[in-house]
Amino acid sequence: MSDRPINLLEYEAAARARLAGPAFDYYVSGAHDELTLRDNRAAYERLRLAYRVLVDVAERDASTTVLGAPLRFPVMVAPTAFHRMAHEDGELATVRAAGEAGTIMILSSLSTTAVEEVVAAASGPVWFQLYVYRDRAATEGLVRRAEAAGCQAIVLTVDAPVLGTRERDVRNRFHLPPGLHVANLLPAGYGAVDQPAAESGLSAYFAGLIDPRLSWDDLAWLRELSSLPLLLKGVVRADDAARAVEHGVAGIVVSNHGGRQLDTSVATLDALPGIVEAVAGRAEVLLDGGIRRGTDVLKALALGARAVCVGRPVLWGLAVDGQAGVAQVLGLLHDELDLAMALCGAPTLASITPDLLVRPG
Ligand code: FNR
Ligand code: LAC
Repeated sequence: MSDRPINLLEYEAAARARLAGPAFDYYVSGAHDELTLRDNRAAYERLRLAYRVLVDVAERDASTTVLGAPLRFPVMVAPTAFHRMAHEDGELATVRAAGEAGTIMILSSLSTTAVEEVVAAASGPVWFQLYVYRDRAATEGLVRRAEAAGCQAIVLTVDAPVLGTRERDVRNRFHLPPGLHVANLLPAGYGAVDQPAAESGLSAYFAGLIDPRLSWDDLAWLRELSSLPLLLKGVVRADDAARAVEHGVAGIVVSNHGGRQLDTSVATLDALPGIVEAVAGRAEVLLDGGIRRGTDVLKALALGARAVCVGRPVLWGLAVDGQAGVAQVLGLLHDELDLAMALCGAPTLASITPDLLVRPG
């Protein structure tokens, strides 16, 4: 395809042209004024690179491990809901592309394909993102099913006790198109995201079903439900990160939900150094939010992230060309990171160090 997008921003434009308006709006939106959505990106633009010269960069190696799982490069697929709204192959296309790219997919609780089917189609590791329902028996069922299906970690999202307000979804009265469901929750009776009177159907779904009482005290219960490693996703404070480590988590995802929850919350790249310091190597620290270029990945790694995750760009790839589109998006990020490593004089991940970063004036 000669008109194939050549970067992630072009993928967004191509996806916009293909998707139904409300679906694109749901994917692209941030909360309220979308300040945090923009600031996640702007944080990368505030940092400049002071590259090294005369380093032999003929061989570059971006491979790593995350919780022991080998990755071809330090970019993973963030959990995002409702992939079949972007493409009929939905989460199956995404998981195949993640495997093809040599990375991990984190599957959302709110997938439009059941976890068993997704893991069965996978050629690489799948982690399961968990939302805790008020119905704790249904939640337990979800965790047990994820483990039995073969997921290799549980990623508990902690920044969404209630849903942030995405104003386009309110205006569109967002709901799932006919035939699509929250597949994992169909057996429990929580499969429908309907069109409510005057709000986002997903906000109504959260308000009715997701447990806003979830607290630190629940982590012991969760850890007993399965033997899988537990990560917390949505942490932006050093004290919360330290507390998570004390509760035995294996990893932290520094995230503000891609700017979709609390608007004006801190950009993830700005939150990262304090969290890395507080965790002090006792757990693995990942980050998401606004990663669109290889240099973004490099900057996050220089500040101590072990790997990063991408959310929306995967949905854009999916909308444009299914599995091939997602593989292309991940491939572009791989190639841009490889280029950035070469031009920074940092041919290994270990050589991506904070001295490469400059904050002008
Ligand atoms: C998300 N995100 C998300 N997070 C989560 O824990 N469970 C979920 O079901 C979803 N669903 C979801 C849907 C859509 C459309 C988006 C854009 C995001 C948040 C996601 O995991 C991640 O934190 C952000 O997407 C990262 O920011 P970028 O890469 O989209 O800028
Ligand atoms: C969202 C939820 C599903 O961000 O996490 O839309």
